[in-house]
Amino acid sequence: MAKLLVTGGKELEGTVNVSGAKNAILPILAASLLTSDKIVLDEAPDLLDVDVMSQVIECLGGKVKRNGKRLHVVNKQIKSIETPFDLISKMRASIFIMGPMLARTGRVRISHPGGCAIGSRPINFHLKGLECLGAQVRMDHGFLDVSAPKLKGARIYLDFPSVGATENIMMAACCAEGTTLIENAAQEPEIVDLANFINEMGGKIKGAGTNIIHIEGVKELHGTSHTIIPDRIEAGTFILMAAACGGEVLVRNVIPAHLKPLLAKLNEAGVIYKEEDEGIRVMGKGCYNAVDIKTQVHPGFPTDLQAPALAMLTKANGTAVVTETVFENRFMHVDELKRMGANIKIEGRSAIVQGIDNMYAATVVASDLRAGAALILAALIANGTSEIREIHHIERGYDNLDGKLRGLGAEINKVD
Ligand code: UD1
Repeated sequence: MAKLLVTGGKELEGTVNVSGAKNAILPILAASLLTSDKIVLDEAPDLLDVDVMSQVIECLGGKVKRNGKRLHVVNKQIKSIETPFDLISKMRASIFIMGPMLARTGRVRISHPGGCAIGSRPINFHLKGLECLGAQVRMDHGFLDVSAPKLKGARIYLDFPSVGATENIMMAACCAEGTTLIENAAQEPEIVDLANFINEMGGKIKGAGTNIIHIEGVKELHGTSHTIIPDRIEAGTFILMAAACGGEVLVRNVIPAHLKPLLAKLNEAGVIYKEEDEGIRVMGKGCYNAVDIKTQVHPGFPTDLQAPALAMLTKANGTAVVTETVFENRFMHVDELKRMGANIKIEGRSAIVQGIDNMYAATVVASDLRAGAALILAALIANGTSEIREIHHIERGYDNLDGKLRGLGAEINKVD
């Protein structure tokens, strides 16, 4: 099994380019199922999750070809309505195919995705939304069999602004008969990117990025070319790493508006950064004030940056309280950070982080994608050489993270 060896103590220097957003390209790839025309996607990040979504599309009859950062996708004919357990179990986001498959063929069978390391992660809001549009959901030997000979526009109130449910409903509703209103919709930038993509295909979606999304069903969608937005979580991870390690790093290909909640906290902590035309320049000095963080849905502090931010706070001056409100079990990185000397106590949904002077190297295990990023950050600021295992989690969602860090002067190597 591959692992990462990271020697801490080096300042980071130079420029790093952020890749396209994982959480934008996954639903957009699923939305490509809405048309038989050709789709071209630029700034497609090279990630394991993108490979899995491409395999899902191919198993339904489509073709996905990569040429550098460009993906060519064609779903001329849908040959199957079923995605096997093996693919769904590799990646939860495979459930994004439910909405577009219903819109295109009227039926889809997927293995129930189940839970994952960060919580039980039900899909009741996805299913409730699809049912409101006229779909029937049956459980059949572990498979969800969802069918709708005709989807009809509806008014749907989400009990929680779920990102995935908002996206699945948007994709199902864009070709439904009549108008759909999603109330209490999620407002993440990736939802806006998906809506823009569908509109470029001929869809009629308004209000994405607010909590009410208005979708007027159209008869047909056509092919298009689209550039994926930059990954705000990857950008945030590099900004945190640059701040924590010290040195000067320009993080390029970012949309600063997408990073507001992180930048506000970094200001409070005393991190010095500048917004420039090309990106965000961080002048790291290594040690900062402890700040409290509470994860929230967008535009609040993103849960996906909680783990790397917490790793940076392990060396802050004072005590920080980090509260996770989006997922029920997203502190798997804490025990690993403690093995590196961090002083952290979990109380309910909060982690109380008492800053220490020095972390030390250890062998640690990445339990999920963002926990993996947190462990890399911790290893970069620890004394000695750490070994990070189960790095396939990191490769699911960060495009060449170790290579990009080496480009900034970090001592990080992948070994088998
Ligand atoms: C997406 C992101 C993920 C991010 C999360 C929150 C993708 C591919 N993934 O995940 O990186 O961490 O948003 O910003 O875009 N919930 C239910 N029922 C449902 C759906 C969700 O109870 O039907 C709960 C979840 O268990 C969780 C919360 O709602 O506690 C938020 O989940 P959701 O916004 O749906 O996240 P995802 O779309 O899975």
